[in-house]
Amino acid sequence: MSRKYIIAGNWKMNKTPSEARQLVADVIAAIGEKPANVDVVVCPPYVALDGVMDATKGSFVGVGAQNLHFEAKGAYTGEVAADMLNDLGVQYVIIGHSERRQYFAETDETVNKKLLTALSNNLIPIVCVGETLEQREQGIMPELIRSQVKIAYLGVTAEQAAGTVIAYEPVWAIGTGKTATAEQADEVCGIIRKTIEELYDKATADAIIIQYGGSMNAANAESLLAMPNIDGGLIGGAALKPADFAAIVKSAK
Ligand code: PGA
Repeated sequence: MSRKYIIAGNWKMNKTPSEARQLVADVIAAIGEKPANVDVVVCPPYVALDGVMDATKGSFVGVGAQNLHFEAKGAYTGEVAADMLNDLGVQYVIIGHSERRQYFAETDETVNKKLLTALSNNLIPIVCVGETLEQREQGIMPELIRSQVKIAYLGVTAEQAAGTVIAYEPVWAIGTGKTATAEQADEVCGIIRKTIEELYDKATADAIIIQYGGSMNAANAESLLAMPNIDGGLIGGAALKPADFAAIVKSAK
């Protein structure tokens, strides 16, 4: 089974709209041309989406938002709805990033609602799961990951699930410079794939794209991306450096 890679940059709360336009132009220049079998995505802050859509027009770079609200519209001050992203032409959306879970009270249940909303609005979701160091040390990582996936995918059909992306992001590796080893990351991506197989079937598990995220950089990307269950990366810090991000993209073969 050969899957494509998806390398996505999560810019988090970095870059003004004008800086973001420049950064994506630099990213496109650094990568040069679309590598075979790799989809490249950048996820800037909401206010930079329009400008980044414009700057990526006609290029090989796709654009994603970092979040969305699960309701269609209404009295949700400060929130952004799926059709607003659709109107800009945004193709991807990150859902349930651990920073959203940690600082903005997102739960497995809101992740599920957001996933259903993204799917019914034709956005490709990048669903984030991952354990804290404490949970890993307690030995509950496999059950925790399985339940994060199972709750997120409640009500999602096999056909829909096959078109989604899951990012395994161990919380202890995000922004810490501590990367999971290729074996650790592959083990958990394998647990995720097995869970999808249990929920659906082997074809769905074979089709779904599973990324690793957490201090992935130009030096460690190649060994992570060579693992059988790792189909890409969700890149934070290194995505803000065009040469590093381009090197990660080129490591996906
Ligand atoms: P990092 O962030 O690459 O800076 O660790 C990854 C992420 O949070 O998506």
